[in-house]
Amino acid sequence: MIFESHAHYDDKQFDPDREELLSSMEEHGIERIINVGSDFASCKHTLELTKQYAFVYGALGIHPSDIADLNEETYEWLRENARLPKVVAIGEIGLDYYWEKEPEVQSRQRYWFCRQMELARELALPVIIHSRDAAEDTMQLMKGIHAEQIPGVIHCFSYSPELAQEYVKMGYYIGIGGVVTFKNSRKLKETAANVPLERILLETDCPYLAPEPNRGKRNSSLNLPYVAKEIAALRGITEEEVIETTRKNALRLFAKVGI
Ligand code: NI
Repeated sequence: MIFESHAHYDDKQFDPDREELLSSMEEHGIERIINVGSDFASCKHTLELTKQYAFVYGALGIHPSDIADLNEETYEWLRENARLPKVVAIGEIGLDYYWEKEPEVQSRQRYWFCRQMELARELALPVIIHSRDAAEDTMQLMKGIHAEQIPGVIHCFSYSPELAQEYVKMGYYIGIGGVVTFKNSRKLKETAANVPLERILLETDCPYLAPEPNRGKRNSSLNLPYVAKEIAALRGITEEEVIETTRKNALRLFAKVGI
């Protein structure tokens, strides 16, 4: 059975068939799903999904592109609700300098990334980190706050294989999804082949980043076997070994997820 560590089923792209799709997960071998908040509304929707589906768990946090949603009041809301039994992580949080070039806003991203990391530390929850075009600042900030004491995953890992190893040394997991199946993803293929299998998590980031052969279409957890197959091929092991090991990894990291 597959553990899906990063999905956005609150996204409006799922409005037409969300119920039908989620109800078909278990029969297709998807055992557990973490729905990850990005803005404030999606955090609220995430909580609803965790109530509606036994196998759906939630992560609460504000994405760097949505920090306009954060203030002391919404931060307090996160703190309250992250204590719920089915909220298993703080995320997604981090830095995104691809979509945000304004230095002043980038500095606010760093402020709220730090605050949400401290929230995870306070609540003893793992973090789900989004970092794009901000490799150096992410690492510097994390070292500065001793992030090695806070367990977590670097989701949709997009940096060098060397940086992946550095995160692994800090105790972090590497989230790998559909991009690994793309022909031009040389760096990520190298990462997927070389980081310890015990540190890899399977994820979709759906509705985005569908793997080959469905690239460009709406993504869902049902595409995860393509990701597992690619990682298996890169490492010369079986797809089953990838699925079983990444499942154990996710259960180790997201300790509040029940089986
Ligand atoms: Ni995401």
